[in-house]
Amino acid sequence: MKILSGNKKTKTAIFISGKGTNLKNLIKFSKLKNSPIKIELVISNNKYAKGLKHASQNKIKKKIFNFNNIYNGEKKSLKILLKKKIKLICLAGFMKILSKNFTKRFKGKIINIHPSLLPKFKGLNTHKRAIKNKEKFSGCTVHYVTSKLDSGKIILQKKVPIKKNDTVYSLQKRVLKEEYKIYPKAISKILN
Ligand code: GAR
Repeated sequence: MKILSGNKKTKTAIFISGKGTNLKNLIKFSKLKNSPIKIELVISNNKYAKGLKHASQNKIKKKIFNFNNIYNGEKKSLKILLKKKIKLICLAGFMKILSKNFTKRFKGKIINIHPSLLPKFKGLNTHKRAIKNKEKFSGCTVHYVTSKLDSGKIILQKKVPIKKNDTVYSLQKRVLKEEYKIYPKAISKILN
């Protein structure tokens, strides 16, 4: 689905819950001359999310909403997303499942990165489960978001080999490196 209109950059919001290394990488991407996005907003469900500092450091507006009740969090998010005319939402380590109402409202405009080769290992603890399962490969996937966990149409995927002595940490580190490559690529793919 094409979201970009003319040669204007697409107004983008990033949702995070934690460290925000993907956010940091997407901010870097957004600053490239030919980047198709402009990051206007960062939303977090967690006021302690370390990634929030990247918003502050880059003078990007940040909002923290309580998503314990998902509808309240979504309602508050919706208000500012509309106000800022956001056309693309990138989930980057956002650990909440958005409702059907919300995902329908932004159909084809919410994407997520997940640290596994979907449809394998949806949900949490992907690296631990991939190692335990003696998989030869793990990887990462960028996909459209629906209300069904990690199940929307796949945009891009990258395989990462699992080494014999891999720990959750070493595998996570190797997969993250690839996440930083495929997330910008996937954004360019859907917007160009
Ligand atoms: C990333 O590995 C991302 O793929 C994963 O959380 C990490 C966030 O890291 N997302 C999920 O597991 C979503 N189901 P970051 O905060 O450093 O970008």
